[in-house]
Formats: sequence, C-alpha cells, structure tokens
Amino acid sequence: MVDQDPRILRLREIRERASVGGGTERIATQHAKGKLTARERLDVLLDPGTFNELEPFITNRPDEMGLSNERYLGDGVVTGYGQINGRTVYVYAQDFTVFGGTLSEMQSHKICRVMDLALRNGVPIIGLIDSGGARIQEGVKSLGGYAEIFRRNAQFSGVIPQISLMLGPCAGGAAYSPALTDLIIMVRQHSFMFLTGPEVIRAVTGEVIDHEQLGGTDIHMAISGTSHLSTDSEQEALSLCRSVLGYFPSNNLENPPYSAPHADPNEMIEELNHIVPLDPATPYQMHRVIELICDPGTFLEIQPAWAQNAIIGLARIGGHSVGIVAQEPSVMAGVIDIDASDKISRFVRMCDCFNIPLITFVDSPGFLPGIDQEHRGIIRHGAKVLYAYSEATVPKISVITRKAYGGAYVVMSSKYLCTDVNYAWPSAEIAVMGPEGAVNILYRKQINESPDPAMERQRLTAMYRERFINPYFAAEAGYVDDIIEPRETRQKIVTSLAALRDKFTDAPPRKHGNIPV
Ligand code: HXC
Repeated sequence: MVDQDPRILRLREIRERASVGGGTERIATQHAKGKLTARERLDVLLDPGTFNELEPFITNRPDEMGLSNERYLGDGVVTGYGQINGRTVYVYAQDFTVFGGTLSEMQSHKICRVMDLALRNGVPIIGLIDSGGARIQEGVKSLGGYAEIFRRNAQFSGVIPQISLMLGPCAGGAAYSPALTDLIIMVRQHSFMFLTGPEVIRAVTGEVIDHEQLGGTDIHMAISGTSHLSTDSEQEALSLCRSVLGYFPSNNLENPPYSAPHADPNEMIEELNHIVPLDPATPYQMHRVIELICDPGTFLEIQPAWAQNAIIGLARIGGHSVGIVAQEPSVMAGVIDIDASDKISRFVRMCDCFNIPLITFVDSPGFLPGIDQEHRGIIRHGAKVLYAYSEATVPKISVITRKAYGGAYVVMSSKYLCTDVNYAWPSAEIAVMGPEGAVNILYRKQINESPDPAMERQRLTAMYRERFINPYFAAEAGYVDDIIEPRETRQKIVTSLAALRDKFTDAPPRKHGNIPV
C-alpha cells in the first residue's frame, strides 16, 4: 500500500532535505576533497543500523548580519546515539557542507544535548570535528556556544571517555574542544588544527602559510604533541576509534572490558632474557620488550612520533586493559625531558580516571640536564610526573629493566609513590647517578692526587659499578619488591594484576589538587 497521507509525506520530504545538509553541490565538493559527509562518517563509525538521530529539525537562527537567508535543517551537525561493538555511545558529526561546519548557537545546543545525555547515561561521547570554528555571523552567540561545550568537556573529564576525530580544517574553538578531550585522532592530508586560520594570519601579519605547515597532522603528532593518534584515511580513523574504545570502560565507575588473551599468561618469554646488552652503554629496543610482554597485537602506541624518548600506549596483558609507560633507551638514552614529562603525566592521569592499571618499564639515566630545559621549566614539567603517579590509585606495577638513576628512579612509579609492586631485572642499575658522575664527585680529591688520575678514575668507577650499580643493593633495603628473570615478566604482571583487582585506596577529602600545569 502506498502512503498518501500528506502529513507523512511532508515528514519524509523534510527528512530527505535534512539528509543532504548544505546541498548536493557542496557534498560533491566534500567528496572531491576525498572526504566523507557527516552521515557517511557515522555509518562507518557505528555498528550497522544502530544510529538514532536527535534534533534533526533544528535550523540555524536567522542571519542578523543579513549575509544569507538560507536556513539549513540540522544546522551543520548530525547528533544522536548508536553502538560500537554493542556498547552505546553518543556522537556528533559536524557537517562541513553547512557554513563550513561552523559552530552556532543552535549547533552548540545540539552538541551539548548529546554530551549531557552521554554523561547522564555514563557512556562515551565521540565528536567528529570538521569545522571553521565559531560562525562569524552569529558573533557572541557562537562564542558563548563554544563556552558551553568547553565547560562540559572539562566537567565531564574523567567521568566519561571523550574522543575527538579531526576530519577537516578544525579552527579556533573547533580545536580547543578536542584539546580538552581524552584522545585526538587526526587524518594525514585532511586534518588541520589551528586557533587562527591562514586568512586571518595573512590579514594580521602578512605572512602566507598553508594549512599543513600551520597545523597539519604531522605537526600535531610530532611537534606540538596536541594529537594522540593518526591514520592515512578517514575510514581508518573511524575504525581506529572503534578499537580504541575497547580499552576503555564506558565510564569511571566501571572497569574496562575484558577480552580473552591469545597469549599464554604463564609463558616464559625466553627472548627477554637476551634483550638487555651486557654493555650498559649499548641501547636496545624497549618497544620490543613491550611487544613481547603484552598480549600479541594489542599494544596501541599513543603519540608515537612526539617525545620518542618516552613511550606510552594502551594494551592488554592477560586479557586486561593496561596503560604502558616506558622509556626508549635507543632515543636520547631514554632521558626524561619536558615533552616526555608532559606526555607521561597526562597519560598516567587518563589511565587513572578510567580504571586502567599502569605498567611502567624504567630505563632512564634521569632528567635531561642543561640551560634550555631548566629555563623552560623542567622542574615544573617533571613535577607533573611525580604528581600524576602519586595521585593515581589504579593498580601500579613497575619493572626496572636497566637504568633508574636519580630523578628517573623516583618519578617513574617508584615504590614510595605508592606503586603496588616493583620488580627489577638483574640488569637494573639503581643509584643516585651513573658511576662516572658519582666517582667524579665523591673521589675528586683522591683522583687528582693519584699519580695516574685516569687509571684511578677507572678503578673507582669499576668499584662503584660493582658495589652499587645493581638491583641487590636496592632490594636489600626494600626499595624493590623482587628481582625477576626478564622471561618471567608477563607471568608476574598477570598474577600481580589479579592480586590487585580489588585494590582499595583512601585519600583525604579535598576539592581537587593543584597539579603544576
Ligand atoms: C562562517 C565560515 C567560517 C566561519 C568558513 N566558513 N569558516 N563561515 N564563519 N568561521 C564558510 C565559508 O564562508 C564557506 O561558505 C564554507 O564555510 C567553506 O569554507 P571555505 O573557506 O570555502 O573552505 P576551505 O577553503 O576548505 O577553508 C576552510 C577554513 C577557512 C580553513 C576553515 O574557511 C577558514 O580559515 N575559516 C576561518 C577559520 C578561523 O579563523 N576560525 C576561527 C574562528 S574564531 P560557503 O557558503 O562558500 O560554502 C573561534 C574562537 C572560538 O573559533 C573561541 C576559542 C576559545
């Protein structure tokens, strides 16, 4: 039977109009740039047939500047809820075909609505961002609209996971909101993030600069540290978002989902016993250590191109979601600098928010010395790592694989930052500083007065290394819980995690702490 009821036909006609956003011509332009539309993106992101749209009839407010009389259904954003691997999420996808996806009063209303519903239901909120920022013709209303979103980003932080996919030129507020969320995913050649666009820069400074140079994916992945993950295509970014969510619980009161491991938790991983070279100056790949210990194929490195001396990422060990923090001794010897401090501390806090246990692998000669780092505030930035580990109440396990000198020993999940289990490999070197520096300070007079200072320095260095640079000195004093063979590491972590599952912590009541940001 064919529907003839004009009321139903009218609804269908309006829905049809809403589905084409800014019109077929602009959709063709979007496709010509190799980009999907907002609705096509949601189709890829969500489990098939699960998307339910909300407020599709909302239109933009009349243009008080008189630039255009066009009224667009949806006002440049598609909002609603759906499922990812059977779990509910709320979503909003900005539609670049309507005023360049820019934020208006009504668009803000729609986004805030799904954010509020996500919070109320304790499920993640995912933003697909493709926007020129605040809509100029809406003036202060669009700025106020952004403030409404930013406030929610901040207040919901640590309660529900917030994930941002940057799928176009994201300017102004369109970059600030993602910066407040837990993870940003960018697409090479397509995503750009900047506060002020090239047009504005040219008007103000006369400088001609393109999107890529200003805030392309490689800039934010390797230089600014603003983005966390990147892909070569939108489809890959959307599918990456689906897998990322698998490491997170739906909210801060739940635990992350368990997924049966493909690796034997009791396996002795022999390769680990041969990984740390006997010569302490020869580097090795910490990435390989992580790969061997985590359940195969589960390590998802975050910010892999920024501050490469530090490694962070989500993984599974024995089927359980964990956050991995480590140094990479083959990059700058694994030293901790300002960027590494920022990278580690934010990640530790993110894992702690969402009940993701922290596994830390330590191999670092300490903080990077020098006037540049001191003047740029290594004290303030390094303090964040101490703060983050001290504050974190999730199960914390550390493994010292080689160097844990000075500040690096202390900040990297040391026992008295309330780490639950501290392991050291027999190759661990735990001391206030490395032998060369220590001998120069402790025995300067003795070396200078010796008939052969070089020989004497060498003798004392060997003596210091033999006596103090090993894990037994620390273990005798109770500063590590056990010294284990490297091959036992996965098994030890799996059993420790099981023993820590019901960990209970208590902290004095307070409004919130004052992390040295
Ligand atoms: C209104 C805008 C707009 C804006 C783009 N458009 N930005 N409309 N307000 N902010 C419109 C264009 O007029 C055009 O409309 C359509 O969107 C597509 O834009 P194009 O320029 O044709 O596309 P493209 O060449 O891909 O360039 C996209 C862009 C560029 C990089 C986003 O448009 C740009 O630089 N816009 C300004 C970005 C910016 O500086 N925003 C900051 C806003 S301030 P038609 O009708 O032709 O399709 C802000 C502050 C927030 O956000 C507060 C933070 C704390």
